[in-house]
Amino acid sequence: MSTGTILVTGGTGYIGSFTALALLEAGFKVVIADNLYNSSKEVLNRIELICGRKPDFYDVDVTDEAAFDKVFAAHPDIDSVIHFAALKYNGTLPLQLYSNDPLRYCARLAYLSIQAVGESTEVPLEYYRTNVYGTICLLRSMTRHNVTKIVFSSSATVYGDATRFPNMIPIPEECPIGPTNPYGRTKATVEMVITDHIEAQRNKAEKEGKSGEEWNAAILRYFNPAGSHPSGIMGEDPQGVPYNLLPLLGHVAVGKREKLLVYGDDYASSDGTAIRDYIHVLDLAAGHLIALNHLRSKHPGVRAWNLGTGKGSTVYHMIKAFSNAVGRDLPYDVVGRRTGDVLDLTANPTRANQELGWKAERTLEDACEDLWRWVKNNPQGYRQDPPDFLLEA
Ligand code: NAD
Ligand code: WQD
Repeated sequence: MSTGTILVTGGTGYIGSFTALALLEAGFKVVIADNLYNSSKEVLNRIELICGRKPDFYDVDVTDEAAFDKVFAAHPDIDSVIHFAALKYNGTLPLQLYSNDPLRYCARLAYLSIQAVGESTEVPLEYYRTNVYGTICLLRSMTRHNVTKIVFSSSATVYGDATRFPNMIPIPEECPIGPTNPYGRTKATVEMVITDHIEAQRNKAEKEGKSGEEWNAAILRYFNPAGSHPSGIMGEDPQGVPYNLLPLLGHVAVGKREKLLVYGDDYASSDGTAIRDYIHVLDLAAGHLIALNHLRSKHPGVRAWNLGTGKGSTVYHMIKAFSNAVGRDLPYDVVGRRTGDVLDLTANPTRANQELGWKAERTLEDACEDLWRWVKNNPQGYRQDPPDFLLEA
């Protein structure tokens, strides 16, 4: 059993909620700070249904440094932060909302009209404010409260088009970064902000005659998260129209969308469609736990790790895999390439395998089956109760 209290920003979101669950299952106490911009508090109940324990929750905007101060003051036992809270859309504006709850729909429209948050190329300042300034607020507050360890959600998107280095596919951490959109640049900037801050804190401690080795950061560059909890009780529930391939396939499977649009079949891949490294969200959550424990025991300073499977799959392969899980062929049309898409984003996960002892264990088929169980039984996501048979299982 692990002990300690971990602050999870963005902990009601997709990857954050699965990591909160993994932390609780490992014996940690979890405190979540999230402003529910892209998530729902219902996930806290689902976490409790699965593991019998519930995280503490604070409605905090990451740009509110004083609010972080209050959370740290209320939980002096927090010694580490896992920082997920961010805006994350490269692409299509998530403003075409749907909801069965008119009140929630109106509240969200009003909120969005104030926040004007959409895709990072359209509202880059909102992305820099939340992702970069929000992280600075967090780090300042952490420092005041002597919280010295941070695990940061970075992204494969920092590599940009890695095919410009043909000998670097699959992509190792040494691949030069080169993000191609504002979202990616916020992630690359935060990597540098965290690196500089940890180094400054270590130097400061050294000047004061202390070791400073308690200051550590893990930069986790995720590839394409996929899947849901095998129970069918927890999954991805984005508040707007999904942007990513698998949630969109889920919408096709339950009839919310007529067909999938395949963005380009003229790539230099085996079947012409683009290649990605889809990693089960449970493996991703496990990676956070392992990285956190590594920071606590090995004091590596700042280190980046890819979290991916090392296996690339094309869009057609994914359509086939998810169709198999659903039990019928899902319709699609081929359209032109999506702006900003690249041919191949496949991880070389050797560094995480060797240094962290972490390896993705679940298959693409697991991810598709778990996703289908979630989507089929919760077509309204967290806006409906899970069916009784799932709770009894
Ligand atoms: P998500 O949108 O489900 O979770 C992000 C959470 O942050 C949400 O709960 C949202 O409400 C919260 N949030 C947003 N703005 C906030 C603010 N101003 N203050 C407080 N909370 C705020 O996204 P996710 O897929 O779980 O991604 C989690 C992290 O992983 C993000 O940092 C994202 O950039 C990164 N990431 C995601 C992917 C992916 O494909 N999902 C891939 C690589 C990296
Ligand atoms: C996967 C493949 C599309 C939708 C995104 C972000 C990245 C990271 C992970 C946060 C691509 C194709 C998709 C559709 C399609 N997120 N596709 N039709 O673009 O690899 O990565 O999520 O850090 O920053 O960009 O993921 O799921 O959107 O697309 O053909 O309707 O599926 O072209 O090849 P992507 P994705």
